[in-house]
Amino acid sequence: MHDVLQGCDGSILLDAGGEKSAGPNANSLHGFDVIDTIKASVEAACPGVVSCADILALAARDGTFLLRGPTWKVPLGRRDSTTANQSLANANLPSSGASLATLVSTFASQGLSPTDMTALSGAHTIGQARCSTFRDRIYNDAANMDTSFAAQQRKACPQSGNDGHLAPMDVQTPREFDTAYYDNLMARRGLLHSDQELFNGGSQDALVRQYSASPALFRADFVKAMVRMGNINPLTGTAGQIRKNCRLVNS
Ligand code: HEM
Repeated sequence: MHDVLQGCDGSILLDAGGEKSAGPNANSLHGFDVIDTIKASVEAACPGVVSCADILALAARDGTFLLRGPTWKVPLGRRDSTTANQSLANANLPSSGASLATLVSTFASQGLSPTDMTALSGAHTIGQARCSTFRDRIYNDAANMDTSFAAQQRKACPQSGNDGHLAPMDVQTPREFDTAYYDNLMARRGLLHSDQELFNGGSQDALVRQYSASPALFRADFVKAMVRMGNINPLTGTAGQIRKNCRLVNS
């Protein structure tokens, strides 16, 4: 889902030199095999028609819905990039240590508002993060972190080593697309520093409170922001290509 950067053109799926290995994505994205399986069935039925970028956008929508999240209409007809751009992805992806100001400006550079950013971050109500992405937070963020939560996370994420240990980003309901992510932030139990930045005495505190109190508002804003994010620089018409294998540019 961190596929925003070069645009929604499937570039994140490329194996070589791409966004997969950009700092914040390196070793972090799972599920490429699922996309490969879907692509293989689609190609068998109707070769050369459905892009990897469209498959990825539909999989994000359906995965969200299957975990009891909202659903939305995905505009189709995106085409796949013929290049992946690691430096672009590095420049456009905020790190898990990012400040609120950096989060706001990174999303703004893609035409997304602070509200979009705070709503989209709610996707961290599912999925897991590696110890290496939240170590600084659990050892150095005492001021805005629940003490017992920090102690619990430190057990499997030592000061050095075990970098790849995975922890759920929403400890309460990791497989449910709900608003527990925002409840956690209000309890100072955000796993990533960048998560807790949304509720740390700044401009997004009020919205975090509103999402926690109103799942309907969160769902509506999340859908709007997903559609907006899905419209960032898509390739259409004759630009790009329909990749045969999502991991490779056509030869
Ligand atoms: C606000 C800026 C964001 C930052 C700094 C950020 C950072 C991260 C980090 C560090 C991880 C853990 C990666 C790992 O260790 O494997 C992660 C996972 C994840 N992020 Fe984000 N993210 C952001 C925005 C988003 C957005 C906009 C979405 C989607 C709408 C999203 C969806 C996810 C999901 C679903 C996972 C779990 C992946 C898995 O379990 O394999 N994130 N994010």
